[in-house]
Amino acid sequence: MLRTQGLVSGYEKVMILHGVDIGIKQGEVVSVIGRNGVGKSTLMKTLTGLIKTSDGKIYLEDKDVTKSKSYERAWKGVGYVPQGHMVFPRLTVEENLMMGENINKVKGKKPDYDLIYEYFPRLKERRTQEAGTMSGGEQAMLSIGRVLTGNMKIMLLDEPSEGVQPNIVEQIGDIILRINKELGVTVLLVEQHIGLIQQVSQRCYAMDKGMIQDSLTRDEILDYDKIKKYLSV
Ligand SMILES: Nc1ncnc2c1ncn2[C@@H]1O[C@H](COP(=O)(O)OP(=O)(O)OP(=O)(O)O)[C@@H](O)[C@H]1O
Ligand SMILES: [Mg+2]
Repeated sequence: MLRTQGLVSGYEKVMILHGVDIGIKQGEVVSVIGRNGVGKSTLMKTLTGLIKTSDGKIYLEDKDVTKSKSYERAWKGVGYVPQGHMVFPRLTVEENLMMGENINKVKGKKPDYDLIYEYFPRLKERRTQEAGTMSGGEQAMLSIGRVLTGNMKIMLLDEPSEGVQPNIVEQIGDIILRINKELGVTVLLVEQHIGLIQQVSQRCYAMDKGMIQDSLTRDEILDYDKIKKYLSV
């Protein structure tokens, strides 16, 4: 579904990623873990095209998208849930979803708002509330709801647990798994929240200093001693 080869990228003259190779198969739920500042968000932004690739390749369904614009990747099925949720604070819940619909616009296909509200009843209750006044958990739900308005094949989530209270993190994990199973969406999750990583990941990549240092199986993910060295805990 998504594969990178020797990915190098960064900001101005400072390179942050120094040759990242990852691959996610259709239907998988894979995590990228790593401490603060190792380059996880830089990787996500490079995959979505928000940051230019300086060297290496990105393949989406075996097609080279390294030079594709961000919106083209969105049309091709890349859904992005950015770190910090990034909802439009002065717009209502409903308006935020409509922005998602416009950005991800797919000809002849209307988003299934009933399904989005079924996954997140809280969003339905609060559809006329300004997004900036909602809790961290509600904003995380809205950020995920917003990508569900598109024709998504792979969902890239960057620390959706950030600023979200523990019981809501677990609910978000349940929804990520439902989106994967019921809608057939492949998932790439960047996380540091051990509970969420263990709840959803089939396998994971551990990142440090802009490179993939290790690859962990589901059993290794469940072993706290194995994964804690890659987390800021
Ligand atoms: N816009 C920018 N300009 C210059 N340097 C940046 C920019 N954004 C991030 N960096 C630097 O790139 C490095 C990696 O940052 P990145 O946000 O990818 O880390 P991260 O693994 O996502 O961290 P966190 O867990 O805190 O979200 C850091 O040293 C950071 O200071
Ligand atoms: Mg980050």
